Parts: sequence; structure tokens; C-alpha cells
Amino acid sequence: MRIITTESYDELSMAAASIVAGQIYLKPASVLGLTTGSTPEGMYGKLVAVHKAIGLDFSKVTTFNLDAYLGLGADDPQSYHHFMQKHFFDYVNVKPENIHIPDGLAKDVTGECRAYDAAIRAAGGIDLQLLGIGRNAHIGFNEPDVKFEAATHKVRLDDETIQANARFFEDETAVPRYAISMGIKTIMLARRVVLLASGWEKADAVKRAVLGSVSPATPASILQLHQDATIIADSAAASLLPEKFQHGEHEI
Ligand code: GLP
Repeated sequence: MRIITTESYDELSMAAASIVAGQIYLKPASVLGLTTGSTPEGMYGKLVAVHKAIGLDFSKVTTFNLDAYLGLGADDPQSYHHFMQKHFFDYVNVKPENIHIPDGLAKDVTGECRAYDAAIRAAGGIDLQLLGIGRNAHIGFNEPDVKFEAATHKVRLDDETIQANARFFEDETAVPRYAISMGIKTIMLARRVVLLASGWEKADAVKRAVLGSVSPATPASILQLHQDATIIADSAAASLLPEKFQHGEHEI
């Protein structure tokens, strides 16, 4: 596992955007696993800027989002479809037919989950998976549990996650209780994984993910077993790591 600690959120966003841009430059037909939340907003902004400035070409890229709330349709302003349009897809040339986000209104949720994993396999697997991290160390919507859930599946959100995500909704009661999320195996099969963490409220989760034991109680800890995982943390998110990891780039 590699950890890159940046001085600022802006630097974190730039570091993440550089990795994505490099991936697409080297392999124009890359399959990207995308994430939502406040943390990747800056990265998407930088990628849009690079697309506009030098024409970084997304026309051959295929994308699979990590997760989606159940009960929210693509047009709902709180849906992850909407988030992705607003922060990224509206400004770059990813072809609409190459965009995949779990259907939050699926009638057959199990079928939707199976079809999602099958579509990832049919696309050749994910080349670069981007992740955020929850305060409880969730990745995607894989909440702390007694076992690692392998494939794309239906999740009941933890109270802590509902509280954390309430800021995007009118109030806590409006936050959906269920979601569809890629599973841990789906994420681990990605050839490269980059997790972004920003802010003090993520510091404990980052510490447990990087230094704690690998356990479903800390979903992000599974990345310790990935052959090519990078965590990009700003100084606040890295603040509970040993001093030597609080600046620059390190292999752990
Ligand atoms: C949601 C998403 C996660 C994301 C997390 C952190 O729960 N399902 O994939 O990593 O939020 O979001 P933020 O970056 O807003 O803290």
C-alpha cells in the first residue's frame, strides 16, 4: 500500500486527477470505477479543467460508479446519477452509453446487482477504482460488518452514515436507508485502487485502514491486501498516522 500525504485539499485533488489523467493517457479505453461524495469533487473539477485545456479524451472510457441510493431515480437531485452529471459527465466527453451507475429504482434489486457485476466483467474489469472513505471506514457503501460482502449487493446504511450524509438532504429523515454498492471483491478485483481522504473527521478511519488489522469491521482495511492500492490523504486526514507518514509519499 502506498500513502501520499498532501498539504492541502487542492493538492490532493490534483494528485488524484493526475493519476486518472495518466491512466487515460496510457490506456484511452480505460474502465474507471468512480466515486461520489464531497471528497472527489475537487478531482472531478481538475479533470474537467484538463479536458478543456488539453483535450484529455474520455470518448473511449467506460465508467462504473461504486454505489447508488435505493429509492432515488436518476433525475433526483440527491441521486449519485445527478451528482456525476453535475460534477463531471456534463463537462467531459464520456459517451452516455459507457456510463454505468446502479439503478436506484430497480424493481429486481438482486437482478440489478448481478447484472452490474456481469457488466463490469464484460467490460474487461476495472482498471482504476477511485474510492472515498466513510467516517466509519466504509468504502462504497460497504458498512462495517462481520463479513466482507463480495459482490454488488443491497446494503442497509449505518446510522453514522445516514447522519454524515444528511448534509446533502433536507434533514436526516430524507436520507435513504438502503443502497446498492459494489462489493469488496468487486473493488478488490480492480487492477489499481486509489482512495481519497480529506479532513479531520476521516483521520481515525484512515489510521485504522492503514495500520489496523484487516477486518470487515474496518472495510477499507482490505486495501492492505491489494497489490496496487494508493491512499491520498490531506494533512488533516493523515494526522493520526505516525509522523513519518504525515508528509510526502511512502510505501507501507
Ligand atoms: C458516501 C459514499 C462513499 C463515500 C462517502 C464519503 O457514503 N457512498 O462512497 O466515500 O460518502 O463521502 P465524503 O467524501 O462526502 O465524506
